[in-house]
Amino acid sequence: MGEVSADPITLDLLREARETVSSSPLGVINTPMIPWCQTTLPLDIRCNIHIKLENMQRTGSFKIRGVANQFARRPKGGHFVTMSAGNYGKSFTYASKHYGSKGKVVMPETAPVSRSTLIQVRACTMYRSFIKKKPVGMDTKSIASGLAPPFAGTLPFELCQRYVEGIVLINDEEIKAAVSTLYRSGLVVEPSGCTAFAAIVNDKIPELEGKSVVCILRGENIGKDELVNFPG
Ligand SMILES: Cc1ncc(COP(=O)(O)O)c(C=O)c1O
Repeated sequence: MGEVSADPITLDLLREARETVSSSPLGVINTPMIPWCQTTLPLDIRCNIHIKLENMQRTGSFKIRGVANQFARRPKGGHFVTMSAGNYGKSFTYASKHYGSKGKVVMPETAPVSRSTLIQVRACTMYRSFIKKKPVGMDTKSIASGLAPPFAGTLPFELCQRYVEGIVLINDEEIKAAVSTLYRSGLVVEPSGCTAFAAIVNDKIPELEGKSVVCILRGENIGKDELVNFPG
């Protein structure tokens, strides 16, 4: 894989990535963005929410975008190893197969069926890192397992320090309720994929009143075995 660094992300870099991703042989989809009212489920919120359906993306999440960009830039051949709670791994495997390359995905032992019984935490690794002003590790367990890594990587921490204005916290109950609301509106979204939505419907983000807001639903990788444990 090429050099990775937290050098400033410029508009030119973003344009280049967009070009690479849209011409990728992996067939990344230009997913629809729809106003919430199109779902017909009433929602008691004070902003005008639009949802970007990356849960309908190829391989089920936005991760294919980064994978398409990476695979287009890396040399042919070679073996690659990655770590993933599922989503990135799925996109990586799809791309490896397509490019005829070999790779390994290291995944946590936690089976999806056990996700719903995990204890709930109100803090996340990156939040704790923000407070401590350095990347830290912690024993994280959450229904949103994809967002609860045991440590914050140095590079993601540097990028967050540079570009993230603020972090809001939501708990597992709020995430579960968001999964259920989305399901009732006809959308299958995994816990890690609906946290922005959960933050908006629980009024956790200040100053949204009256504004038009885009909320990305990031992934749909959730099984029927998990969904049965969510509130109706
Ligand atoms: C929707 C979603 N699922 C999962 C993850 C975690 O990625 P992975 O499943 O590859 O560990 C993320 C991380 O950004 C995410 O946004």
